[in-house]
Amino acid sequence: MRKQIAAANWKMNCTYQQAESLLADVLNNQVSLKKNQQVIFAVPYPYLIMANSEVAEEENYFVAAQNCYTRKSGAYTGEVSAEMLQSIGIRHCVIGHSERREYFNEDNNMLAEKVNICLEYEITPIFCCGESLAIRDAGTQNDHVEIQLKESLSHLSEVDIQRVVIAYEPIWAIGTGKTASTAQAQEMHAHLRAVLTKKYGSLVSDNISILYGGSVKAGNAAELFSCPDVDGGLVGGASLIAADFISIIKGLK
Ligand code: PGA
Repeated sequence: MRKQIAAANWKMNCTYQQAESLLADVLNNQVSLKKNQQVIFAVPYPYLIMANSEVAEEENYFVAAQNCYTRKSGAYTGEVSAEMLQSIGIRHCVIGHSERREYFNEDNNMLAEKVNICLEYEITPIFCCGESLAIRDAGTQNDHVEIQLKESLSHLSEVDIQRVVIAYEPIWAIGTGKTASTAQAQEMHAHLRAVLTKKYGSLVSDNISILYGGSVKAGNAAELFSCPDVDGGLVGGASLIAADFISIIKGLK
């Protein structure tokens, strides 16, 4: 059975002290997760070790990095490698968030390299895809995300693709308060799963979690997550408010 995941994407927010208390507030609530449910906190690099030790005792709670570099090590000032993340016990990493694509020029080929290096170091990539408003208005969103998947993931083996989590995040819904309707989310998630089925077969594609991201809130999470192909969410703004993120966790199937 594929995993249902509530992933918090804190982005570049919180001081260390705020990060500690936000984590404590979510963890103290002791939402007990079903076997197939996971909660992942994608926190800024300086807080990874602290956050990982906070979740260490909690079953099915994990910490993710928000990015990593394509290379193992070397003269890349300011970058962080998958090997470093592995060495501090991190097992998840967001890859290809639209903000990385837009502000840091990350393209599909580079993201394929990032996915590869994560898998090499036993880190689950949470691979983000999604279209801009212009693409949605032109009606070519399905082709757009299909190309993102093909160029960054389709080289993976049947085994490795099942080690990836996919997050569909329409850019027009990120941080805008505009959420995709359940119909729009389900349609795109079904399309993504169909693309995976075409290449890998349904036994494999049924096993891959596809999260929705873009203005997921306490009030809409359960409805979005109830769609058959929506396996949880990648949550930005609402993950910074403990009570809201707790409700979102409770909305998982
Ligand atoms: P949002 O961000 O929930 O604030 O829209 C989601 C994301 O960018 O991952």
